[in-house]
Amino acid sequence: MYPSTRLRRTRQADWSRRLVRQNTLTVNDLIWSVVVSDTADPVEPVMAMPGVDRLSLSALAKAAKEAQDLGIPAMAIFPHIDPAKKDDSGSEALNPDGLVPNAIRTIKEAAPNVGVICDVALDPFTTHGHDGVLDGDRIANDATVEQLVAQALVQAQAGCDVVAPSDMMDGRIGTIRDALEADGHHDTMILSYAAKYASGFYGPYREAIGSAAALKGDKQTYQMDPANRDEAIREVELDIAEGADMVMVKPGLPYLDIVRALSDTFPVPVYAFQVSGEYAMIEAAAANAWIDGERVMMESLLAFKRAGAAGIITYFAPRAARVLNG
Ligand code: PBG
Repeated sequence: MYPSTRLRRTRQADWSRRLVRQNTLTVNDLIWSVVVSDTADPVEPVMAMPGVDRLSLSALAKAAKEAQDLGIPAMAIFPHIDPAKKDDSGSEALNPDGLVPNAIRTIKEAAPNVGVICDVALDPFTTHGHDGVLDGDRIANDATVEQLVAQALVQAQAGCDVVAPSDMMDGRIGTIRDALEADGHHDTMILSYAAKYASGFYGPYREAIGSAAALKGDKQTYQMDPANRDEAIREVELDIAEGADMVMVKPGLPYLDIVRALSDTFPVPVYAFQVSGEYAMIEAAAANAWIDGERVMMESLLAFKRAGAAGIITYFAPRAARVLNG
């Protein structure tokens, strides 16, 4: 008449909870996503993301030192490009003296021990806000891949450690790998945004990088349908065969089933991106005192680890690191 198994036994004290705990979040799991801008002076707030600013290069140098002091392993750069520099093919993405190459050099100089990850995609640079070049109404796959290869080379030549194609064109991982090898960048890693969904959760990011007003139509012809799971497996299979060192799932929290499926299936590190809309939702509820912001931030980051993620790209990185470092 008494339960012989009482799962509450191990929950009763802090010491036994710690002893049976299966997953832990550490600073080593955090990748800090930062928005850089050549017009910010020195910073410019992003309205839909309270607590996130567009950073000038001098503010970025400070942030890089902060990342290094906090023990954050890497930063991921997202550029806000002056609209005057945008064109149909995103040619500013190929400028070796552009904002991204300068941001890479700025981080490397300020904090040599912080890894630098760069998005490979054209949306911050195009007048139409798409990740590729257009052929009529369509995003031209192969012509886009050519641009992406050139963009990835510019990043690698500027000292980027990890190129992260987030465009979802077919065949780009293999083509970028070949080009990196041929140019002598044998050690430049590729983190493929392999399972990237056509999501409403990217809204605040598009304000942050200034592509919201520009974007014509949506990205459903290249990003994945939120209804699909098997396709994520195929995307990752292909990207590993083409030479990806690591893969990413994006968005994060609503797609933890995909993180779990991929981390169970493939022996490569799987990362998750806690995207701008996820950040905005937590911040908005916290600002209204509807949730405890810090608690939900830490719980959401731990949930990625439980799902099998090797790490998380997040705008919360410095705040979470401060909590973890006590
Ligand atoms: C596009 C890109 C996007 C994000 C990172 N790279 C948005 C998109 O595909 O429209 C979203 C990041 C975020 O929402 O935080 N190449």
